Amino acid sequence: MGSPIIISLSLWLALILPSFAQVSVNLPRLGTVIGNTNTTLWTGKTFMQFRGIPYAEAPSGEHRFKAPVRRKPWSTPFLATEYGRICPQLFTYNRLPADQLTGDLEDCLTLNVFTKTLNAKQPVMFYVHGGSLQVGFAYDYPGGYLLEQDIVLVVIQYRLGMLGFSGTKTSNMPGNLGLMDTMLALEWVQQYISAFGGDKSKVTVFGESSGGDLGGALLASPKTPPSSFHRLITQSGSAVDKLLVNQDPIGQVERVCRALQCRQCERIDKMESCLKKADVWDILRATETEGYGLIVGDFHGTIPQTPAQLIATSNIDVPIMTGFTKHDGSLVVGSLYDAFKASNTSFSSLKVGQFANGLLGYLNDTSGMTDNALTRLLFPLNLWNSSDHKRAIPAYFDLANILFFKSNEIGFTNKLFAKSYSSPIYFYTFDYEGAQTNFGFDTGNSQYPFNGGVHHTDDLLYLFPMKPLNTADTEMAKKMVALWTSFAMTGAPKLAEGPPVLPMQYPRGPYFHINQPITVEDDVLKEFTATIDDRNNNKLDRPDKEF
Ligand SMILES: *[C@@H]1O[C@H](CO)[C@@H](O)[C@H](O)[C@H]1NC(C)=O
Ligand SMILES: *[C@@H]1O[C@H](CO)[C@@H](O)[C@H](O)[C@H]1NC(C)=O
Ligand SMILES: *[C@@H]1O[C@H](CO)[C@@H](O)[C@H](O)[C@H]1NC(C)=O
Ligand SMILES: *[C@@H]1O[C@H](CO)[C@@H](O)[C@H](O)[C@H]1NC(C)=O
Repeated sequence: MGSPIIISLSLWLALILPSFAQVSVNLPRLGTVIGNTNTTLWTGKTFMQFRGIPYAEAPSGEHRFKAPVRRKPWSTPFLATEYGRICPQLFTYNRLPADQLTGDLEDCLTLNVFTKTLNAKQPVMFYVHGGSLQVGFAYDYPGGYLLEQDIVLVVIQYRLGMLGFSGTKTSNMPGNLGLMDTMLALEWVQQYISAFGGDKSKVTVFGESSGGDLGGALLASPKTPPSSFHRLITQSGSAVDKLLVNQDPIGQVERVCRALQCRQCERIDKMESCLKKADVWDILRATETEGYGLIVGDFHGTIPQTPAQLIATSNIDVPIMTGFTKHDGSLVVGSLYDAFKASNTSFSSLKVGQFANGLLGYLNDTSGMTDNALTRLLFPLNLWNSSDHKRAIPAYFDLANILFFKSNEIGFTNKLFAKSYSSPIYFYTFDYEGAQTNFGFDTGNSQYPFNGGVHHTDDLLYLFPMKPLNTADTEMAKKMVALWTSFAMTGAPKLAEGPPVLPMQYPRGPYFHINQPITVEDDVLKEFTATIDDRNNNKLDRPDKEF
């Protein structure tokens, strides 16, 4: 009874409030989506946004842990004027009001489309968010900067954590579901993006951190739908990262089965039915300390060998832009500092070498060769043997940069050179330190005796409206948007001014520094000591804070 009144009221509001103008797009054989509009942040151009469009059936009930299934067509128009629900993740759930946590929590496989015109063939930029395959959601990545250029932006969500990246390699829990979600979303783009004014033959996958890892996995996987993307940008994330591989997926499922207090956790079919029936919240609480990676040898054959091995035989050959931020590793230095603090370590008796070994330990270097080479490269003996942690900050940063980001990113391009990849590869280091940083993320960074530098994810501040930018930072954002969108349009990053950005000619370079101004250099391995070599690295210290 009430619904006709509500509909006519919303139509009336749509007529009198142009800023909430509704727009509808018919997706052939799928249904109609209704979006609304917003404006770009620098020149106030109007764009349309269709948010929370479901591309897959809810992966709940029978569909939990299974390959994603295309969303069934709908008959009443789908209202895509709000973001879709985030995929289950404890850290964020604990901060959300209870009324946002009702209904089918797993029904989160949605995507957002931003476009200025429906009647064009614009390059498509397909964003895969990061968050250690465990957290993150699409509403952090709105289109207000990128839509200054004539592109279509698609931002997807995919299953996370246990629900997205666990598996036993059987048909019940095949594994790599989050990656398969990403593949299905790419297929969706091939089918429907022309209705939004997108050119399905010009799709750029771009992702940061674990989103970059997934981008690399799409390049590697034999199951990536053919011709579903045509350029790739991986930011601070690489498919060859050892941490990207789940070393013991069945052991993980068993551990979680026991934490859920199910019985018979030694039998695979029993563990599977335990996890299949468990409440989402219980799974999230039972897996707070778990980490996630791709499962090698999954049931559906998406990652039959390690991604590093697969890259050698993959026949996807598309222009690539890849790189890292100058201090990506400060994220890890911060976590290690927190861990020592939590165990009440006295930093005045802790040696620099002991702290550094806390980072090197992740590598599991059985021969000791890499450990020793990195120690020699970064820590003079008197520093290593001291407790002068302040003086060691640049070395700590570079060590973590190399171990967790820079070597993996360079290792990824090495793999491409080893197989005579024919498309251009562009390599950057993002060096610009603006007024904003994501150091500390949602929990703040005031406890640290060092600054975060050009922290992990700080490059994203200039591609998506995340935090307000001052004038100088806005100039950098315009540069980033020009580089990223020109790459999406032409396969080569271009700027109106400055030196031409050159593709790599050999495995070590050339590469470019994204800063004011852009500069080009010849040997990317120099970046292994970028912090130590920086004459201004004393700015990383917080003189008023002791270790
Ligand atoms: C428009 O975009 C801005 C910046 O991203 C955002 O804060 C605002 O909520 C958006 N408005 C609508 C109606 O989507
Ligand atoms: C560290 O010290 C605090 C306060 O003295 C204490 O409450 C806590 O239990 C200690 N933690 C460890 C791991 O020893
Ligand atoms: C590190 O090496 C040990 C011993 O070989 C092994 O048990 C463990 O799984 C390895 N860890 C990683 C992350 O490779
Ligand atoms: C290392 O430090 C200890 C005490 O802190 C000192 O006795 C020793 O001589 C140092 N060794 C070197 C090689 O510097």
